[in-house]
Amino acid sequence: MESSTFILFGATGDLAKRKIYPALYHLFVEQKLPPTFSLIGLGRREWSDELFRANVKQSLLQFSRREAKDPALLNAFLRAFRYCILDAGHIEDYRKLLRLIEQREAELGLSPNRLFYLSVGPEFFDTIAANIRESGLGSADGWKRLVIEKPFGHDLQSARDLNRKLNQAFEEHEIFRIDHYLGKPMVQKLEVLHQTDPVLRELWTNRRIANVQITANETVGVEERAGYYDHAGAVRDMFQNHMLQLLMMLAVHFPNDNTSGNARLKKKKVMEVLEPLQKQEASANVIRGQYKEGSVQGKPVTAYTSEPGIDHASMNDTFIAAKLRIDDSFWGETPFYIRTGKRMREKSTRIVIEFKDTETPASPTKDGSRAPNLLVIEIGPGEGITLHFDKKRPGQKEQVIPIPVDFPANGDDVPEAYENLIFDALRGDPAFFAHWDEVELSWKWVQPILEAFEENLVPLRPYAAGTYGPVESDKLLAEDGFHWWLDA
Ligand code: BG6
Repeated sequence: MESSTFILFGATGDLAKRKIYPALYHLFVEQKLPPTFSLIGLGRREWSDELFRANVKQSLLQFSRREAKDPALLNAFLRAFRYCILDAGHIEDYRKLLRLIEQREAELGLSPNRLFYLSVGPEFFDTIAANIRESGLGSADGWKRLVIEKPFGHDLQSARDLNRKLNQAFEEHEIFRIDHYLGKPMVQKLEVLHQTDPVLRELWTNRRIANVQITANETVGVEERAGYYDHAGAVRDMFQNHMLQLLMMLAVHFPNDNTSGNARLKKKKVMEVLEPLQKQEASANVIRGQYKEGSVQGKPVTAYTSEPGIDHASMNDTFIAAKLRIDDSFWGETPFYIRTGKRMREKSTRIVIEFKDTETPASPTKDGSRAPNLLVIEIGPGEGITLHFDKKRPGQKEQVIPIPVDFPANGDDVPEAYENLIFDALRGDPAFFAHWDEVELSWKWVQPILEAFEENLVPLRPYAAGTYGPVESDKLLAEDGFHWWLDA
């Protein structure tokens, strides 16, 4: 890997502390960082280099999945860290930063490759990108890359505006948009899923797949993010990005498609053939919910509208379920059901593929319902793939066969999403970052839903905290003769 400087905007922030420093440290321990490496942390606080390093060290002790015990290793890591005060709107501060970067590049003999990581609110993205260009920070001989985190815009128009502004300073191939779901080890496996196992290869035909269910349930509520979340809702916070990325990653499997490589092009193709929903059709295909008070894992919790910072009359969605169709010859007959919500009964991100029984008639269960086979892909917490034969209603005996997945033997040592993604950004591999085409097509697909919510064309359904969401979400599948699998 080429030597480079990691320039971190938002170095005193929460994301840096919880995710970025631990990820960098793990990469360092595994010798996956360039041999000479420089990190410059930026923030508005008046920190010295020493205070900055002390804070980074503290975050490693608190959040690293590896014990940061070896003092020699830790000190070697921290030696790369420098701090610089910067106000995102002050061009002078960027010029000062440029001098510091150049000085470090000279000291360490680094090539002028610069990775700008914006761990700051999205309202700063365009200003920072413009100032990077203005100040000459991005004009060195080496490569430059911009790493940003969602949200990329608030709707289709604002996403386009933002992208246009970013493109004035960075070209598309220089922009690495993090969707941390794409960094999850199991999500990264989805792309090659049907090739990994002969049984799966056999099952993976549209003659056999009855439906696909993608769930990302969380037990947490709005947490301390009322200001952001009450304007975003589940549709922007999870659905437009993480959920549609899961759909794309799974649906890129066209078994007869032998075009090698570029998964991003294939993902774009999925979005292009995802049947658009018109605003008027939203209420028939989308369920919008909001949690009321209830009990989550034994603890009583308050209703969304009683959460600190949330408007008592808020109509914001904390749950969304939707039925989608991919209009192509492979997936055309297969409904995809997607749901995500806060304050659900358990934390679980998983994909369930329900198979049709094509050879023998389904063996009837006691209550007369079908007993199909399922492929279950656990994405988190905990990863794994299992085939469930003859899946019956809860409590009845079934056969579960694990499908081997190539993960480290020690379950605790599976790299975290940020580790994978930072490593890829440093080596310039864009495969698991969201391309603008995907982001734009996702906003385009979601836009009629945003408008339908705005105009109240889709009723807001209450659900008790600690459940699986509004009953209407079950009805969405029942209309097609299905139900959500694996709800306890
Ligand atoms: C984030 C959302 O992108 O993803 C959060 O903003 C959500 O609201 C989180 O809690 C869920 O991520 P994970 O990895 O815990 O499923």
